[in-house]
Amino acid sequence: MIHAFTRYFQTKFPHHIRHIHYTVMFIALAQLLLSNGMHINKQGVIRDTAVAQFSTWAHIGFGCVFLLLIIAFTLVELRTHGFRYFYPYLWGDWRQIQSDIAQLRQRKLPDAKPQGLAACVQGLGLGAGLLVAASGAIWLGLWLTDSALAHEAKDLHKMLTGLIEAYIVGHGGLGLLHIYLSSKKHGQLDEK
Ligand code: HEM
Ligand code: HEM
Repeated sequence: MIHAFTRYFQTKFPHHIRHIHYTVMFIALAQLLLSNGMHINKQGVIRDTAVAQFSTWAHIGFGCVFLLLIIAFTLVELRTHGFRYFYPYLWGDWRQIQSDIAQLRQRKLPDAKPQGLAACVQGLGLGAGLLVAASGAIWLGLWLTDSALAHEAKDLHKMLTGLIEAYIVGHGGLGLLHIYLSSKKHGQLDEK
């Protein structure tokens, strides 16, 4: 399956998009895992255990990298495909979305097409990634300057992380299913 995944990405994406996507994917998953070990109290003090210290500082470090990367990824994606590819509904264009939904109703997984369901979900995912990373960075700025608002920003960040979790389950899960089904169809899963 890992082989099918890397092959799909190799044929589908140019080199730079492939590597940005791998890194974004890896950091997003690492952030979700690391967040389980984090403990910062209302006064902004990190719990004095090795796990909490490591998880918090690694989460902050990865988070800052993620913020820069997701900005770059969004700009690269918009330059490659254009705004309308990801957000056609802002122009009242629902045609491809409706046709993809009709295909889903027939229990067939539609391919990712311009202005289609998968592209719209990806557009929302980029937005979710930007919001989560920006809210984390705002908390960091307030926390470092001992602001009383840091706790509020942390709650906002925690709330927004729900968006990226839902995105990873939806987009990631369907992406893996899509690769599995198309590899099976082309007999590639039996090769290795
Ligand atoms: C500059 C960037 C970031 C900073 C400074 C930051 C900081 C924080 C802080 C302080 C917490 C609260 C920890 C606690 O009190 O338990 C937190 C929680 C969390 N963060 Fe981040 N974060 C950043 C980016 C991200 C990114 C990019 C993701 C995901 C892709 C993410 C996912 C999470 C999750 C899932 C939680 C746990 C939420 C919960 O317990 O309900 N963070 N983050
Ligand atoms: C477990 C995590 C993830 C998996 C398994 C995954 C899987 C995939 C797959 C299979 C595709 C190709 C869809 C196609 O065109 O056929 C794709 C595209 C894409 N993914 Fe992800 N993804 C994950 C996480 C993320 C995250 C965290 C983001 C950003 C927040 C993201 C943003 C995108 C975007 C923008 C595209 C479209 C790229 C293009 O067509 O140029 N993905 N992903």
